[in-house]
Amino acid sequence: MNPETYYTERKNKFLDKLCEYLRFPSISAQAVYKKDIEACAEWIASYCEGIGLNTQIFKTEGCPIILASSPVRRPGKKKVLIYGHYDVQPPEPLDLWKSPPFEPQIINNAIYARGASDNKGQHFAHLLAVESFLGSQNEAPCDVIFLLEGEEEVGSQSLTKFLREHKDILNCDCIVVSDSGMPARNLPALTYALRGVVALELIIKGPSHDLHSGVYGGAIENPAYVLCKIIAGLKDDQGRITIPGIYDDVRPLSAEERLQLARLPFSEDEFKKQLGVVKIFGESGFTTWERRAARPTIEINGITSGYQGEGSKTIIPSVASAKITLRIVPDQRPERVYELVRKHIEGACPDTVTLSIVPGHMGEAYITSYDSVYSRAAIDALRKAYGVEPVLMREGGSVPIVTEFKKILGVDSLLIGMALPDDNPHSPNEKFDIDSFYKGIEMSMLLLEEIGKI
Ligand code: BES
Ligand code: MN
Repeated sequence: MNPETYYTERKNKFLDKLCEYLRFPSISAQAVYKKDIEACAEWIASYCEGIGLNTQIFKTEGCPIILASSPVRRPGKKKVLIYGHYDVQPPEPLDLWKSPPFEPQIINNAIYARGASDNKGQHFAHLLAVESFLGSQNEAPCDVIFLLEGEEEVGSQSLTKFLREHKDILNCDCIVVSDSGMPARNLPALTYALRGVVALELIIKGPSHDLHSGVYGGAIENPAYVLCKIIAGLKDDQGRITIPGIYDDVRPLSAEERLQLARLPFSEDEFKKQLGVVKIFGESGFTTWERRAARPTIEINGITSGYQGEGSKTIIPSVASAKITLRIVPDQRPERVYELVRKHIEGACPDTVTLSIVPGHMGEAYITSYDSVYSRAAIDALRKAYGVEPVLMREGGSVPIVTEFKKILGVDSLLIGMALPDDNPHSPNEKFDIDSFYKGIEMSMLLLEEIGKI
């Protein structure tokens, strides 16, 4: 039997298996889901084992890491490492989901579930491509090694350590990561750069307990007010970050890159409609694609203080806090950026309250060349799978481990995302189109064939 027939005969079964995988609430950010993370790791490991891969689960201080490789190393064959993450973002706010996040449902030819496209559906597609080769002819065009982790959404700490400790078993010719997107339906892309990230939390303490705002209001500082003032000053009306020195190391976009980004499809009206915003906003002098993919930004991810229940409660809150992340671009150093932010915020905080700043995960931006033999193989596979000339692009999200792959293993990653612009990653109603899933499997089979030819 040939691999295509194997795959065609099992398309429905593959979809059912993906739904099974999506039922695990493998949320890495919240400790109560530890058991679910472990059960999810067991499930995907046993799937890998079942299709004939040598599979190991490595325990870590955090979430388990799975390594599943072709049974024998065949001399002369290329070895491809395929990375993915089985952890997912918290699904909240739950009341905005049309169907429960961990009960996958098929609506309008798409699977709705947390993790559907980010990232279970995408790496599972690669696994099924490998299954189609192994199940039909006992071997794939390349040797493969799947590396699946459960901490991507919280900064990949355990995996970074794992790379250093297990360098020897991870040696490979190229790395494939499908954890990004396509700029439009039916327009495949090779992504050659991602932004990095710097996360921190600001905590501002005022009185030792919430106070009556009539009795004490006007006589002491309100920590929520201080927090708002500090945060409001971090960006100006032109969308530029105001922190001194923050742009010092930013690598400017080359004329060629600006041209590439300008070629990507973009309609301001559709963009506004899809996101539900009344007007777009961003750093002046840059296009929306440039702002999203290649310029630094600072964003508030969550902000909390005081009473937020029904009705009114007249208090001065005791504490105010905010979770903040910056996205950084090539040549910016995460530690330096963090220091600049810390110093600036400390300087901006009055002495009427107590400020603490807690650093979170950090990762450098990633940028690589797009004319290596492997990039060309990926572009050929994308063209064959989608029947359209692929575009080269940069993206704004972060996959911090790819810079570690480069530093520790010395290998570049091919970033070939399968997600669509309306897949809602990190949002309610995350989905993965069934067509994206099947095309992803077909593309992966073609990719392994193309790499096999190098
Ligand atoms: N799949 C995303 C990253 C991504 C999204 C890349 C869209 C390119 C386009 C990944 O799962 C993710 O969300 N990463 C986190 C990393 C962070 C927690 C360190 C991110 O970007 O917020
Ligand atoms: Mn994500």
